[in-house]
Amino acid sequence: MTVVKNPEITIIRELLKANSGFVSGNRLAEIIGISRVGIWNHMEKLRTQGFIFEAVRSQGYRLIQKPDSLHPLLIEANLATHKESPRIIFLEEVDSTNSEAERRLANGKETPFIVISRSQTAGRGRLGRRWFSGDSGNLLLSVAFRPNLSPSRMRNFTLWMSVNLCEAIANTCKISPGVKWPNDLLYEGRKLGGILTEARIDSDQTRDVIFGLGLNINNPRKSWPKDIASRTTSISDALGHKVDINRLTAMLINRILKAYNQFIKNDLDTLSNMWEQFDLLRGKQISLLQGKTRFQGIASGIDDSGALRLKLNTGAELAVHAGDVTIEKE
Ligand code: BTN
Repeated sequence: MTVVKNPEITIIRELLKANSGFVSGNRLAEIIGISRVGIWNHMEKLRTQGFIFEAVRSQGYRLIQKPDSLHPLLIEANLATHKESPRIIFLEEVDSTNSEAERRLANGKETPFIVISRSQTAGRGRLGRRWFSGDSGNLLLSVAFRPNLSPSRMRNFTLWMSVNLCEAIANTCKISPGVKWPNDLLYEGRKLGGILTEARIDSDQTRDVIFGLGLNINNPRKSWPKDIASRTTSISDALGHKVDINRLTAMLINRILKAYNQFIKNDLDTLSNMWEQFDLLRGKQISLLQGKTRFQGIASGIDDSGALRLKLNTGAELAVHAGDVTIEKE
């Protein structure tokens, strides 16, 4: 008899699979390898965490209600079971999930691992910006990897991950987000999410990389501070209703891990097509700020290294690897 390591994940997974139907205590006991009394004890523990079950003597248990905010058991229960589950560290509050991942990497923690927090006290974005991180339905997640690749091979990592996320969100949520080079996920001109990739380089090797994602999933419009409300949106705002945040998070984790594995194998044949599909800048008049220098011109996609191609107003062509883009004319 195999004894399951985390019985509560298995219980929730079986009840979710039953789709509001009953699962007998005997069946749960058999799958998990404990007694029915043991199952009952776990159900009581789950009840204290916001799960509501109906228990009928001859039929077993069925799930009536589950927490609708992020919950580690629900994320794990929704992850694919055929592979070994990735290690997830779930926190109520942290300074920044990227910083937490960095500390754990420095302590030698095995990769890949994922840090998720309900809120951040010092969430950060690109170019030293603050990332609004209240506990109101947004996903704050970092995934740590040790890619062992040269820094030049990592150049289009963020772009590859961002188009993969766009495709995953488009397929699952039936909205069509796009990418504003290099790391902004937008929907109808408003910010839906952002990516912060941070890497540590040892001479010619990328020692480790942290892929940080902030995604507005179920944040209601009124939860945003006034200064960013007009520029921001969420998946629930776009759809007009909340989504299952735990299921979506599990799907995104699966996609991030899959996209990372493809990236490591240099299996990036689809990058240019995907970029064309999700690129929000192509053909638009933009302004790009690099330090104190401002370039203005028409964006024309990316080159093989992930640099943004610009046809400057002066007629010259330029490929840039860094900078802050503003769309001047749609
Ligand atoms: C940006 O748009 O500039 C990127 C924002 C990235 C925010 C996420 S939230 C999870 C992770 N932890 C952080 O401190 N930042 C990233």
